[in-house]
Amino acid sequence: MSQTDPQPVQYLADYRPWPFTLSETRLDVTLAPRDTRVRAELRLTPQQAGSDLVLDGGTELRLISLTVDGQQPDPSHVIREGERLTVVAAALPQGPFTLATEVGIDPADNTAFEGLYLSNGIFCTQCEAEGFRHITFYPDRPDVMTTFSVTIRSDLPVLLSNGNPVSKAPGVAEWHDPWPKPCYLFALVAGDLVAVSDSFTTRSGRKVALNVWVRPGDQHRADFAMQSLIKSMKWDEDVYGREYDLDVFNIVAVDDFNMGAMENKGLNIFNSKLVLASPETATDADYERIESVIAHEYFHNWTGNRITCRDWFQLCLKEGLTVFRDQQFTSDMRSAAVKRIEDVQALRARQFREDQGPLAHPPRPDHYEEINNFYTATVYEKGAEVIGMLKRLVGNDGYAKALDLYFDRHDGDAATIEDWLKVFEDATGRDLAQFKRWYTDAGTPVVEMSEDWQDGRLTLSFRQSTPPTPGQTEKPARIIPIAVGLLGPNGDEVAGTRVLELSEDSQSFDFDGLSARPVVSALRGFSAPIILRRDLDDATRAFLLAHDTDPFARWEAGRELALSALTTLATGGEAGSSYIASIGALIAEDQTDPAFRALSLNLPGEEEIATRLAYLGQTPDPDAIHTARTDLARRIASAHEPLLSRIYDEMTVPGAYSPDAVSAARRALRIAALGLLGRIDGGERAEVLFGVAGNMTERMAALAVLLRLGHGAPALAALLDEFGDNRLVMDKWFSIQAMAAPPQDAVAVASALAERNDFDWKNPNRFRALLGGLAANHAGFHSVDGSGYAFTADWLIRMDAVNPQIAARMSTAFETWPRYDEMRRAHARAALERIASVKGLSRNTREMVSRMIA
Ligand code: ARG
Ligand code: ZN
Repeated sequence: MSQTDPQPVQYLADYRPWPFTLSETRLDVTLAPRDTRVRAELRLTPQQAGSDLVLDGGTELRLISLTVDGQQPDPSHVIREGERLTVVAAALPQGPFTLATEVGIDPADNTAFEGLYLSNGIFCTQCEAEGFRHITFYPDRPDVMTTFSVTIRSDLPVLLSNGNPVSKAPGVAEWHDPWPKPCYLFALVAGDLVAVSDSFTTRSGRKVALNVWVRPGDQHRADFAMQSLIKSMKWDEDVYGREYDLDVFNIVAVDDFNMGAMENKGLNIFNSKLVLASPETATDADYERIESVIAHEYFHNWTGNRITCRDWFQLCLKEGLTVFRDQQFTSDMRSAAVKRIEDVQALRARQFREDQGPLAHPPRPDHYEEINNFYTATVYEKGAEVIGMLKRLVGNDGYAKALDLYFDRHDGDAATIEDWLKVFEDATGRDLAQFKRWYTDAGTPVVEMSEDWQDGRLTLSFRQSTPPTPGQTEKPARIIPIAVGLLGPNGDEVAGTRVLELSEDSQSFDFDGLSARPVVSALRGFSAPIILRRDLDDATRAFLLAHDTDPFARWEAGRELALSALTTLATGGEAGSSYIASIGALIAEDQTDPAFRALSLNLPGEEEIATRLAYLGQTPDPDAIHTARTDLARRIASAHEPLLSRIYDEMTVPGAYSPDAVSAARRALRIAALGLLGRIDGGERAEVLFGVAGNMTERMAALAVLLRLGHGAPALAALLDEFGDNRLVMDKWFSIQAMAAPPQDAVAVASALAERNDFDWKNPNRFRALLGGLAANHAGFHSVDGSGYAFTADWLIRMDAVNPQIAARMSTAFETWPRYDEMRRAHARAALERIASVKGLSRNTREMVSRMIA
């Protein structure tokens, strides 16, 4: 691939419409591993006299022929330069014409998994964002939308593309997609695949054939994905009034895939780990994730495909909205309270981390070098949070009206964030000029809240500020919705949830007519993606943990108690026992959802403790943090041994395994108890559980306990024996060893794993399992001798030459480096500089590394 070509920075402000219209694309693809031929016919009409026709096309495309209305232009009129092919205006008619090209490509040699590639005998494509240019010469930009007719020639039994099937004969299949689409939604799959099939009848009576295509033998692992698809189709009709619009919907699972999944029109392609699941191979978390990603890709059919993005700066238009929709779906399918807490945890772990470091950027960036580096937590998860705030501000009815208007007004468009906000303004009458800063400004706002109590009146005062981020020093005030409720001294709610809207740097709100000073429950439901600072003592936090009626705020009170204990311990202090006492009371509440109790019982991770310390202006010491967390876990276990032991015994789930939310919740609480008990029982329970459990959730939890104790070898050998040929289980086998190793052993464990024959590092999942596993071992990755950084840098360099997207993405392991001590910073900088100095480093990794050492 040619991603090393220098390419200037792209700016949002430079957007210009394409000077042609494209009314039809016909592709004829003859597949062969080393010489696939792609014939393309584009039906074009110039919109501005005198425009050259400039098409995108990778330098590796072998141009075999090019004609304009059947004629070969004068060779001097066709110019190939870098990733571009230009047919000069002088060679083009002034009215409509057909450009026909034939190129040769080499899918077997495509290790970057972008464009058309071979993955274990299956031909497949990944075109978002700019992969189509590696298939043929084309206007590879999302605002050029047209219908596609595709002919696939190959002896492979299954030949798939977008839209509806037109014909199928041995060796050739034809597809037609009647819905105009940009080329990033093009897909083609060919291979020896089998389908799990079902059907769905839409609410207007259209019968849709559904297929989940997998490798022969994997059918029994595809049922859950199929059921998730059917639920998603129904939900989008019920909640958003959106119906599916083709005769077939195909999903294909492939083993080599850079990302999670891709919403190609009518032909979604998935990383196999997000499709295949059986009780003995997949955990409860895997099942939940499969259900949500199947939904996510399906929901893109309306939010992404029917309405797409004008340019890649608008990526959060489709991703933020589609994540928001998949979060709503999961809340409806499972527990809304638990889902919200999980989402906030993920947001803080990934997006706050990004926002607080050198890679901070707004949900809608205004410049980039490599768009693949912007498929980030900020674009996705913060993009979803911004929509959640919008909904809170305009209310459920306003949101429903705005969405109906969005679909009415923009169906078939390539739209912008401005279009999106205008729809809300027009539907609700609300001015969103200030709200728009959430899209254009990077950084996590910090809101300080203080209380004043006088004569039955409570005054809440707020001050907001946002720290500077790279390239943005000025951060004007934003609209911030803060949901607040009040609890009386006996724990009863004396004022239900009220949403306070901040719009100034400083603001106050009064609550009158109170007979006694209440306790404030603030930022209920995590009503805005901010950091709320308030002076709270542990006693008040314990009170909120015991009484708050809002599940998020309740969980948050416990989290704050835990973080207060952990940060005190990690900086050499003596932690009080408030957290230990409160958590004991909470988990003893038999009528409280076990999933909620599990979330509260799981201690914050070491990374989260480091983030908190950095936020408090201290330099996190990874070893001290590890020790503090281990000690606190041991103290909890000792203090509550009988209770934890009872929970562990009671939370077994009788009968055959089912991944439903209720059963999963019981297992979650059970393994949270196991994790703590493992600190004091020498791993006895974990050893037994690993041997008897029939499901992967409990086996993995048991294995983690054993690995932390250094007793994992027999269990690892057993898994290898049982699942050595199952790639997805082996990915877990790799990652858990790096992740759960005692920190001082982590790099050695990772290095030994990297030596194994089955460390098939060119497979993105396997690479991520090992390198991501090590990066998740906080004290191991941040070893003071720099060995974690050096090991990671070695592998990033190696991967970059093969698959730049994966190398660039994994480089974010380094993104927090500036917050550590001088010694670690020196090692990290050296590792990053070593990467930066590699000759021929990809644009992807170069951009990431240079932003991190800027
Ligand atoms: N649109 C896909 C999704 O979120 C992700 C594709 C990302 N691809 C990439 N090359 N960055 O569902
Ligand atoms: Zn998406």
